[in-house]
Amino acid sequence: MSNLRKAGVIGWPIHHSRSPLIHGHWLEKHELNGSYDAIAVEPQDLAQFVKSAFENGLAGFNATIPHKEELLPLIENVSEKAQMIGAINTVWFDENGKSFGTNTDADGFLGNLDQQLPEWDKRNQTALILGAGGAARAILFALKERGYSSIYVANRTYSRAEKLCTHFGSYCEPIKWTEIETILPKTDLLVNTTSLGMEGQPPLDLDLSPLSKETVVTDIVYTPLVTPLLEKAKVNGNRIVDGLGMLLHQATPGFELWFNQKVVVTPELRKIIVTDMNL
Ligand code: ATR
Repeated sequence: MSNLRKAGVIGWPIHHSRSPLIHGHWLEKHELNGSYDAIAVEPQDLAQFVKSAFENGLAGFNATIPHKEELLPLIENVSEKAQMIGAINTVWFDENGKSFGTNTDADGFLGNLDQQLPEWDKRNQTALILGAGGAARAILFALKERGYSSIYVANRTYSRAEKLCTHFGSYCEPIKWTEIETILPKTDLLVNTTSLGMEGQPPLDLDLSPLSKETVVTDIVYTPLVTPLLEKAKVNGNRIVDGLGMLLHQATPGFELWFNQKVVVTPELRKIIVTDMNL
């Protein structure tokens, strides 16, 4: 029997993470001699954790709130993607213990749309991103990679949208929250990255009637699975993609790096998470 390969997810708090369930499913499915645990790491212990992770037998780990940005100066080899997005969510070690870090949220976003709506990027001209936080950065990166030439970012706090676009370059244009409806008629892809529409939060209250019927609408919020925005888009005749798949797809690159096994997101895995989260 091969040696046990160990990985996990670090965060503070960490008990809500579904990553152990996702990776545990793949470990079982492929009958691998591996483990993937939730590891509670307090912010002040992060540097020490990274320093000793390889010696402690970890092949690598995922990181979630509040460690994703703080990892950047602690990892020896940071991918261009993670630098651009400004956060690391996946770390692995080579056989000498050298650390590597990347960000798989952009891959998760693209993987989800590719799987749920294979033709989604056929009209990859103009996108409108709502929100300017960490998730918006990953999605901007993803859409640039996919050839979108014109990406508008609308944010409640306009200065954050401005800052984001300065960081990403001329294909990104900040707009005021009140300007959203003027951009909708030329929007091929509408993405919500704000917390509006999440359980316990107010809905995202937009009039979607200016959208073309060809426009794809997606939300990174997945509690509930069909957010009020997606519901409205459906009624408006648009194609919609929910955000749960982004969570599932962002997990595949890490698993493949640590356990040397290609994995796919299946309806079976989706069902396990939907059931666990009571969605
Ligand atoms: P994440 O890293 O997950 O994207 P974040 O950095 O906290 O999270 O960003 C949350 C996004 O939701 C921000 O764009 C935020 O807008 P502000 O930059 O103005 O705070 C947006 N957001 C949260 N509540 C909102 C509300 N009530 N109306 C509009 N936007 C809201």
